Amino acid sequence: MSGSIADLFSGDALQQLTSNKQIGEQSYVLRGYALPWVERLLPELRRVLAQSPFRKMVTPGGFTMSAALSSCGQLGWSTDRTGYRYTPLDPDSQQPWPALPDVLRQLAVTAAAEAGFGHFEPDACLINRYVPGAKMSLHQDKNERSYASPVVSVSLGLPAVFLFGGHQRNDNTQKISLFHGDVVVWGGVDRLRFHGVLPIKEGVHPQMGAQRINLTFRKAG
Ligand code: SIN
Ligand code: FE2
Repeated sequence: MSGSIADLFSGDALQQLTSNKQIGEQSYVLRGYALPWVERLLPELRRVLAQSPFRKMVTPGGFTMSAALSSCGQLGWSTDRTGYRYTPLDPDSQQPWPALPDVLRQLAVTAAAEAGFGHFEPDACLINRYVPGAKMSLHQDKNERSYASPVVSVSLGLPAVFLFGGHQRNDNTQKISLFHGDVVVWGGVDRLRFHGVLPIKEGVHPQMGAQRINLTFRKAG
């Protein structure tokens, strides 16, 4: 294996970066799970973003989020000074959010099943774009009507350090490196665990450029 990326890491480190990992009672990192889907997924993502482009949003507290956001599916998530919410219309265009492309739905549904969550019916896909320096503060996903369905999170592009905490904001967090194609699924007893993303490091991903794109699928309505 001379000259391969394996040479850069010890056996244990490589194992950690390439193996599926259980990170909670009902939470898993599925390493590289999305890789076979990426080629079919990117053109659909491009179409979605042409219709509902990334935009900066403001939190109810008045902070501009460092990640830029868009959505597809029956419901899209947004935030402004008056609160967080899911809406059927893109507030910028006043048109419905772009439909959830089949390939994205299939990826989310099979990843959920792989993690033990059968019959996942996502109706919302939030799309986050992080340029180097952008981050996501610790938060819970709790604007959904029910917490019976898991969250499925697909990472593309630059690597990130994902923080996976507990049910209290100041609980200890696991730091998990996520790479292009990794999928994280959390649900059931872990559905409301705090999570976030440390500032993305400078870099250029060969396929995605100088950015990380994260897709989070949920059943919101
Ligand atoms: C999120 O929690 O909305 C995004 C998580 C991530 O970017 O990995
Ligand atoms: Fe989240």
